Amino acid sequence: MSGSLRFMSAADVARALPMKAAVDAVRDAFVQLSKREAVVPLRTTMELAGDGGALIMPVHLPGQHRLGLKVITVVPDNSTRGLPTTQALVVVFDAATGRAEAVMDGEVLTAVRTGAASGVATDALARTDSAVAAVIGGGAQGRRQLEGVCSVRGIREALIFDADQESALLFADEMGEQLGIPVRVLHDVAGVSEADVICTATSSNEPVVRDRDIAPGTHINAVGTYRPDTREIPGATVARSRLVVDSRKACLAEAGDLVLAVQEGLLDAHDPPDEIGEVVAGTAPGRRDDEQVTLFKSVGNAVQDLAVAIVVLEEAKNLGLGTEVAL
Ligand SMILES: NC(=O)c1ccc[n+]([C@@H]2O[C@H](COP(=O)([O-])OP(=O)(O)OC[C@H]3O[C@@H](n4cnc5c(N)ncnc54)[C@H](O)[C@@H]3O)[C@@H](O)[C@H]2O)c1
Repeated sequence: MSGSLRFMSAADVARALPMKAAVDAVRDAFVQLSKREAVVPLRTTMELAGDGGALIMPVHLPGQHRLGLKVITVVPDNSTRGLPTTQALVVVFDAATGRAEAVMDGEVLTAVRTGAASGVATDALARTDSAVAAVIGGGAQGRRQLEGVCSVRGIREALIFDADQESALLFADEMGEQLGIPVRVLHDVAGVSEADVICTATSSNEPVVRDRDIAPGTHINAVGTYRPDTREIPGATVARSRLVVDSRKACLAEAGDLVLAVQEGLLDAHDPPDEIGEVVAGTAPGRRDDEQVTLFKSVGNAVQDLAVAIVVLEEAKNLGLGTEVAL
């Protein structure tokens, strides 16, 4: 292969990708996904030796003439090694010529695009007067979940619950300073009943919240699990919620929150959920009333990655970010 490509570090990606721009790009990408304008083969999921997993995620956005590929690893044990749980690399190609244009760090990009997806869903489904946001799981994803929610609603206070108290305290310090709002550490997960919006972003295999602690009118963004046998949200909550997903095909195959609820007879497999791209485009309904619980389940979709990678690439060209590498 001849020519050059732009290599972008995590710091370059962070500079080139403000949350509001990510929310706009991901909203548009979800609409392309639901209109079947995006080409997204079901990703390949692999178990790694130990407790880890890897996902190989290809995508083509014909409207933007781009092809993308993300390779992402999730290794929960990494917290004991001082390494991030979620790591990734993204490659962007010009789809018209087939030339590789960029390689970028996917760790920050993944957290921002996952936060942006919850921003899109919160904007479409949460009550407009939502003022308190709770996060369960205060790691890399949890941080950007809160940022995504705050970018679309006037959040005045945040709550954090984490199985690890130290992580919760660190989250509260960092996010309080970044967002300029009080962030209170919860010592019991039942405290999420005070929240208007709840984000779950843990690596737990079991539900992280009890159904009785979800107040009427709450909007939930559940992003932490991506395997058919693990879940964060109890079946009873899934069953009583207005359920919206990122991708029907992917969530019915990969999201234990849905798969296990179907197996338990709590969810009707013949009544598949609507997609967020359909709600945003106005072809599926949003929230019915202020009492309804709304639930956005996302296993993550490659359209999100490519959509924000294009934002990063264009912004990097404008700002002169990254390093040109000869091939
Ligand atoms: N949906 C998506 O698009 C998407 C994208 C990236 C990552 N993820 C998933 O998000 C999850 C979190 O990723 P991360 O990078 O933030 O990991 P992380 O290790 O940085 O953070 C996870 C946090 O959850 C906490 N936790 C674990 N179990 C808990 C429980 N039962 N109750 C409360 N807190 C608990 C941990 O203490 C930790 O602080 C992973 O499972 C990953 O696969 C999803």
